[in-house]
Amino acid sequence: MLLAEGFIPLRLVSNMNIPMLNLIDQYQQINEEINTVIQQVLTSGAYINGPAVRQFEENMEKYLGVKHAIGVASGSDALLLSLHALGIGKGDRVIVPTFTFFATAGAVSRMSGVPVFADIDQKTYNMDLDQVENILEKDRNKEIKAIIPVHLFGLPVDMKRVMDLADKYGLFVIEDACQAINADICSSSPDPDHGNQKAGTIGDTGCFSFFPSKNLGCFGDGGMIVSNDDDLAADIGILRVHGSRPKYYHSVVGYNSRLDTIQAAVLNVKLKYLQEWTDKRRNVAAVYNKAFQAAELLDKVKCPEVLDGHVFHQYVIEVENRNSLIEYLNQKGIGSAIYYPVPLHLQECFKELGYQKGDLPIAENACQRVLALPIDPDLSEDAIAYLVDSIKQFIVSSK
Ligand SMILES: Cc1ncc(COP(=O)(O)O)c(C=O)c1O
Repeated sequence: MLLAEGFIPLRLVSNMNIPMLNLIDQYQQINEEINTVIQQVLTSGAYINGPAVRQFEENMEKYLGVKHAIGVASGSDALLLSLHALGIGKGDRVIVPTFTFFATAGAVSRMSGVPVFADIDQKTYNMDLDQVENILEKDRNKEIKAIIPVHLFGLPVDMKRVMDLADKYGLFVIEDACQAINADICSSSPDPDHGNQKAGTIGDTGCFSFFPSKNLGCFGDGGMIVSNDDDLAADIGILRVHGSRPKYYHSVVGYNSRLDTIQAAVLNVKLKYLQEWTDKRRNVAAVYNKAFQAAELLDKVKCPEVLDGHVFHQYVIEVENRNSLIEYLNQKGIGSAIYYPVPLHLQECFKELGYQKGDLPIAENACQRVLALPIDPDLSEDAIAYLVDSIKQFIVSSK
């Protein structure tokens, strides 16, 4: 059991193996329930669009407090189908943060739109909304049609400000909540208009990923679009089955993008544990921060703030000599990961957009310094102590 309060100061623990991700342990904790529901799907024969899919959609509608939830094949497809359903097409410009997973911007390009990259806020890593407003002010020909706020690492964007900007400039809003399932908008950005809302439920659509490493992950690819707009939800429901309704009558050209029944069955089980896992992640993050403080490392290691709505999909620090630290931690049996090494505006595939090094400096700098540490909900205090102590040893020895 992890206790954020009264964290015991660092103590030396040797020879630990702490992987960046520990999916097998999670499976083993609930394997009987999981095996049962998988068996049920296998013996039902309803492998595509079986009852577990609609059941999971209904569960998510209740869980998130949203009118419609539509299962799709992945988070990437959730973004793509959202853009398609909103009519984003050739030459339409869409504002996205430059510091996010590729799919956020990739979806825009795949619809023949043009990503317009915004820098990030140094403290939260989320899109810098002052810069977004500047970009919108300069868009005299109204070429910008939509904005995709990404709740990066599980920390909600200030959605009140995003919705105000969307109203003022006439934009669609597609929330990329792929890393932020169960994050609370209200507590991280107090917003009287949006009560107790969850990330993903405020924009025209919200997109979720159930990639195995996500806070709610399945055993393959999976995704979901949520929306409070009846017409939009109906269009998305048609787009995911090749644009056909009734079957074999195609009003539009759509996709084959369904959530598999087996994955939905697994997600129905895991959803019951999401709140407990979220609370544990928040606790692990708080324990990390206390450990860094107790080790007197806060002038050398930038830790994330444990804000209320944050679900800590990742726990990301910033350090000097990040790449050498990764090697050092590796030798000590500690996994870590870089999210993300290259900002999207400098990716080769976007070079024709004409961005240069230095254009979006906060994100470029973050890419050199960020390091995600293991944030398994069951990470023990001993493991955290070992990890923080190893980072201290590295910093002391590199002086
Ligand atoms: C911010 C963000 N957007 C989109 C995606 C795409 O989700 P998927 O991998 O399910 O396609 C991810 C997942 O990695 C993500 O982290």
